[in-house]
Amino acid sequence: PWDRDAARGIVQEHRNLEGALLPILHALNEHFGYVDAEAVPIIADELNLSRAEVHGVISFYHDFRKEPAGRHVVKVCRAEACQSMDGRTLETHVAKRLKAEFGATSADRNFTLEAVYCLGLCACSPALMVDGELHARVTPARFDAIIADLTG
Ligand code: FES
Repeated sequence: PWDRDAARGIVQEHRNLEGALLPILHALNEHFGYVDAEAVPIIADELNLSRAEVHGVISFYHDFRKEPAGRHVVKVCRAEACQSMDGRTLETHVAKRLKAEFGATSADRNFTLEAVYCLGLCACSPALMVDGELHARVTPARFDAIIADLTG
């Protein structure tokens, strides 16, 4: 869970690095699983930046979550090779099945759905990742089988 003091500790640990903002955001994202809105004033304060600057960087990079992820994280490849293998159909199916938009978490907080751009499996696309595990040549039916144990 989010912890303001731990967050400040992480910020202070990295504040003297060159270009400290990105390493700090990565460290927070890694530690808490997301970057809480409360981190913005802490970072701004420690690095002498405006809140708007910190906020701008968080929004610009898609690596940072703004809220905790759901219990399971599904990342669907949206890059070219996967798109050419009917990735669009798979994307639509996955979003519908998980009841989550891309970049969002389902209402029951079971799934977070994210887009990625190439998982290195272009030769066997379309590809996606479920809780860190790669899956290639995924069809809508195969996707349903992959997540069968994770629903409900
Ligand atoms: Fe999807 Fe490379 S384009 S894995």
